[in-house]
Amino acid sequence: MASQGKCSLPALYLYVACMLLLFSWKTNSLSETEALLKWKENFDNQSIFKSWVIPAQSNSTTASPCQWRGISCNDAGTVTEINLSFTGLTGTLQNLDFSSFLNLLRLDLKTNKLSGSVPSNIGLLSKLQFLDLSTNDLNGTLPLSLANLTQVYELDISRNNIVGEIDARLFPDGTGQSRTGLIGFKNFLLQENQLGGRIPEEIGNSKLLTLIALDGNFLTGPIPACLGNLSSLSILRVAVYQLTGQIPANIGTLNNLTDVRLFANELTGLVPEELGNLSSLTVLHLAENNFSGHLPQEVCRGGKLVNFSASFNSFTGPVPISLRDCQSLYRVRLEYNQLTGILDRDFGVYPNLTYMDLSYKKLHGEVSPKWGQRQKLTLLKIAGNSIGGSIPDEITSLSQLVELDLSSNQLSGKLPEQIGNLTKLSFLSLENNNISGQILEGIRRLSDLGSLDLSRNRLSGGIPYQIEDCNNLQNLNLSHNQLNGKIPYQIGNLVALQALDFSYNSLSGEIPSQFAKLATLENLNLSHNNLTGTIPASLSNMVSLRSISLSHNSLEGPLPDGSVFSSSNSDAFANNKDLCGEIRGLRPCNDVSSTGKGSGSKKNRLVLIVVPIVSVLFLSFVLVGIFLLIRRRNLRKVSKDGYNSRGEKSFSLWYFNRKIVYEDIVKATNNFDQMYSIGIGGSGKVYKAEIEDGNVFAI
Ligand SMILES: *[C@@H]1O[C@H](CO)[C@@H](O)[C@H](O)[C@H]1NC(C)=O
Ligand SMILES: *[C@@H]1O[C@H](CO)[C@@H](O)[C@H](O)[C@H]1NC(C)=O
Ligand SMILES: *[C@@H]1O[C@H](CO)[C@@H](O)[C@H](O)[C@H]1NC(C)=O
Ligand SMILES: *[C@@H]1O[C@H](CO)[C@@H](O)[C@H](O)[C@H]1NC(C)=O
Ligand SMILES: *[C@@H]1O[C@H](CO)[C@@H](O)[C@H](O)[C@H]1NC(C)=O
Ligand SMILES: *[C@@H]1O[C@H](CO)[C@@H](O)[C@H](O)[C@H]1NC(C)=O
Ligand SMILES: *[C@@H]1O[C@H](CO)[C@@H](O)[C@H](O)[C@H]1NC(C)=O
Ligand SMILES: *[C@@H]1O[C@H](CO)[C@@H](O)[C@H](O)[C@H]1NC(C)=O
Ligand SMILES: *[C@@H]1O[C@H](CO)[C@@H](O)[C@H](O)[C@H]1NC(C)=O
Ligand SMILES: *[C@@H]1O[C@H](CO)[C@@H](O)[C@H](O)[C@H]1NC(C)=O
Ligand SMILES: *[C@@H]1O[C@H](CO)[C@@H](O)[C@H](O)[C@H]1NC(C)=O
Ligand SMILES: *[C@@H]1O[C@H](CO)[C@@H](O)[C@H](O)[C@H]1NC(C)=O
Repeated sequence: MASQGKCSLPALYLYVACMLLLFSWKTNSLSETEALLKWKENFDNQSIFKSWVIPAQSNSTTASPCQWRGISCNDAGTVTEINLSFTGLTGTLQNLDFSSFLNLLRLDLKTNKLSGSVPSNIGLLSKLQFLDLSTNDLNGTLPLSLANLTQVYELDISRNNIVGEIDARLFPDGTGQSRTGLIGFKNFLLQENQLGGRIPEEIGNSKLLTLIALDGNFLTGPIPACLGNLSSLSILRVAVYQLTGQIPANIGTLNNLTDVRLFANELTGLVPEELGNLSSLTVLHLAENNFSGHLPQEVCRGGKLVNFSASFNSFTGPVPISLRDCQSLYRVRLEYNQLTGILDRDFGVYPNLTYMDLSYKKLHGEVSPKWGQRQKLTLLKIAGNSIGGSIPDEITSLSQLVELDLSSNQLSGKLPEQIGNLTKLSFLSLENNNISGQILEGIRRLSDLGSLDLSRNRLSGGIPYQIEDCNNLQNLNLSHNQLNGKIPYQIGNLVALQALDFSYNSLSGEIPSQFAKLATLENLNLSHNNLTGTIPASLSNMVSLRSISLSHNSLEGPLPDGSVFSSSNSDAFANNKDLCGEIRGLRPCNDVSSTGKGSGSKKNRLVLIVVPIVSVLFLSFVLVGIFLLIRRRNLRKVSKDGYNSRGEKSFSLWYFNRKIVYEDIVKATNNFDQMYSIGIGGSGKVYKAEIEDGNVFAI
């Protein structure tokens, strides 16, 4: 021991001092074995600690812990590593006497159930190089003594419930003379906690930083300009915050930057053109801020860009030219901006592209046959642009495609002949174009299809009965076309349907009684057609039906009993041949005025006038009451779900509470596991997410 070496010096005072030191060390510090056993007492007999026992022939002073599970020692038999990661440890750190582990290099307790705070004496681990307490339930603030861990190169306390601010004193003071501060650290991970306040400027004094991950906290203020001084910085993740201000221009000088995620903040202004100079850039995620101006034109100069997202901002000007030859791309999201461009000039053939959303921008041009070469695409959305021409048949060779949305463009021509080849398709929207011709029976092969929207086109001919094979359909909208012929009764086999809209066509014949099998249907719209006959009485079995519209047809006879038929407004049945029923605005089926002929006396006539008026008044009173009640309930539901008719529900949620989105939703849906998918909405899959406070969201 070093202190004993010094004690051999002749000077008496030194000897005395050394004895005192030794004495105090002996009394104050437990041996490593004792300290570990004392900590173990904290954890009522968890099986991880089975090996943490003292052999019969020794005692806690003599026994070595080096063979215990999770403990590693150096050659001298001193503990250098405690690694109990992924062991289900449930307890606190409070009874771990850090003063006993002066040679500890690595402490790894990630992914357990540790609670309580990070003890303030953790700074005693003065040789520590690696500290990982991530994915636990630790709370409280970051102890200032962390600043004593000058040797630490990785500090990871992410995914806990740490509150408070990131203290500027955790970092060196910038004079170069600092004795404390996280001088040596390279990886700084605190994402998904509850930290507030600003990112301190002093972070720029930890010159070796290569990774900063602070996503999913409540940080405010600007991105510190001093980050531009961290020349080794490779990964910068400060997403899902309330950061304001602009991106510091000098960030564009950090040549080693590979991964920059700034999404879901409140950043404004221009994105520095210099970001295009970063030759190693693989991820640039700028979505959901309020950036304006042009995108960096050379964003793919390095040829390594894999994931580029700028969606939901106010970018203007042209689509970056360097995207055209950016072969490395996997994901591109530029939707909801004012970017201009020509589809086939500005986007190349990307062999690895899986996800491309170019919706709601100002793109012109056509979908050329070369789109069929992007063989790995799973999602393609170019909705809300000015794309013309027809849909090339080649697009049906995108065998991995799950979502295709070309809605609200100026597409004409016919549906691709081989549309049935897109067998993985789960979402197809071609709504609001000028597509003509027939709905092909090949559509039957799209058996995974959850949502099919071909509305607002010029489709003609009949509805192919083979559509019954698409038996996962939840949303079927063929409205506003020129479809004619009968409604195939096989539609009744689409038992997963929740919304069915055939309105504004020229469909004739009767409403198939097989519709009664649509037990989960909530919205049915057959209005503005040429349907005849009576409404099948069996439709009163459609228990889920919340809204129905049959107006502007040639239907006759009584409304079926109960359910939606008695709660609807008469507008839902207006302009038909002769419908009757017990709702206001509709002729009652046992119409007194037509059956009560020859009622003689004045008194009888009075009854005939007064009774209907009173009953109608009474009935309408009740109906208005019910209507208001339902409306209020629906309104409340709508606002809670953050749901709007365009299906941009997830979106309002982002803005409603980002913390919820980033952490709880991902957690609640198990990272958007298919298991939690409850359907297909206007903007994609809908997931059910039950977050910890019990609220259930559709996202
Ligand atoms: C742990 O186990 C020992 C014996 O197996 C028992 O005496 C002790 O009460 C247990 N402690 C707890 C907290 O369960
Ligand atoms: C442990 O054992 C050693 C020798 O085997 C002995 O000197 C010492 O006093 C014991 N310590 C305790 C705390 O029992
Ligand atoms: C701790 O152990 C786990 C596996 O048991 C391992 O993945 C991890 O790298 C170890 N941590 C350190 C710091 O060596
Ligand atoms: C931290 O967690 C512990 C144990 O779960 C709890 O007793 C304590 O109240 C929490 N402290 C704060 C500030 O939330
Ligand atoms: C750092 O450690 C020294 C002793 O080594 C102690 O006096 C000081 O308070 C510690 N600093 C912090 C910030 O904990
Ligand atoms: C960057 O470092 C230089 C010198 O190292 C210093 O003068 C400057 O103030 C630092 N900039 C920021 C923003 O911290
Ligand atoms: C940038 O990265 C390269 C390769 O990883 C490395 O050799 C170089 O030292 C880094 N530059 C800086 C300034 O850290
Ligand atoms: C970016 O690259 C261009 C061309 O290589 C160069 O002229 C410009 O100075 C660079 N900008 C920065 C900030 O490095
Ligand atoms: C975004 O910035 C524009 C000006 O660039 C401003 O008009 C608009 O209100 C901002 N939007 C939000 C949501 O802050
Ligand atoms: C496409 O992906 C493969 C496999 O991941 C990879 O080897 C290849 O380099 C990628 N192509 C491009 C152009 O990046
Ligand atoms: C569609 O699939 C058939 C065979 O399943 C194949 O012969 C045809 O070439 C495919 N069409 C396209 C456009 O890929
Ligand atoms: C409805 O059907 C009748 C005859 O069945 C036909 O005369 C009429 O033109 C049709 N109306 C529409 C809008 O198709």
